[in-house]
Amino acid sequence: MSINREAGPEPSPFLATAIEAVRHAGRMQLEAVGTGFTVRKKGVIDLVTEVDLAIERTFRQLVAERYPDHDVLGEEFGAPGAARPAARHLWIFDPIDGTTNFAHGLPIFCSSLALEIDGAVTVAAVYDPSRDELFTADRGRGAWLNGERLTVSTNDRLVDSLLVTGFPYTVHEEAEEMLGLFGEFISASRAVRRLGSAALDMCYVAAGRMEGFWERGLGAWDIAAGALLVEEAGGRVSDLDGGLFVLRSGRLVASNGRVHDEMLSTIARYTAERARKRTL
Ligand code: IPD
Ligand code: CA
Ligand code: CA
Repeated sequence: MSINREAGPEPSPFLATAIEAVRHAGRMQLEAVGTGFTVRKKGVIDLVTEVDLAIERTFRQLVAERYPDHDVLGEEFGAPGAARPAARHLWIFDPIDGTTNFAHGLPIFCSSLALEIDGAVTVAAVYDPSRDELFTADRGRGAWLNGERLTVSTNDRLVDSLLVTGFPYTVHEEAEEMLGLFGEFISASRAVRRLGSAALDMCYVAAGRMEGFWERGLGAWDIAAGALLVEEAGGRVSDLDGGLFVLRSGRLVASNGRVHDEMLSTIARYTAERARKRTL
């Protein structure tokens, strides 16, 4: 098998396109840092910058030129309407994952891209330009970081685990519940981080740097690539109750597999306790 310096085995043409796109996005992100770009509020705490918009426009142009029969689902410009039949190929793109960090000049952000073919995510590329880290996966062919094969960690106890999570932009309205579960995980693990980029959170689980991630209220663009990376690195991805992971539900637990059940029990315990308190 020929080995490619960037993505392990010679990338398929679709993965090669994904790598080209996220690397280009990374260049646009770094060029914009410190230039005083425009930041607008989509909600009270939900930001979008002119850089998010420019990167997504550039990507849409690339797909339109190279694959005119493919569709794009992007965070900033959405998905094609139902007016025409859906394409077999759907590129799922987050131009900047970690926009709040990016807007504040905190170098924890990336671009995340996945290709869904007939409803199954088959290719993933996530690029962190601040660290020059390119995470890639091709279904059935493994997950890679700058050409090195990725495997999840072997740690099998939650109490020895480093976990990561995030909060949706509706957190102000649901802070009590969010922080309640956050507290449960803090009490049950070694530590919990909140880095601000769901895609990188999941890459770090795939890379064995962290044992597990949970979150809800996410968009498909936040997690499509990360979920494939975790699975291809030997980890497990499920719904918050252990059921099948459904990309468009926006909820998931992604872990090294070994601490997955303990993470699920922590969530189940917390959910049952909240329900009990509500009936009192
Ligand atoms: C956000 C980040 C964050 C997560 C939020 C996402 P954005 O994406 O992934 O970590 O907690 O739920 O919306 O807005 O930076 O693309
Ligand atoms: Ca995102
Ligand atoms: Ca985004």
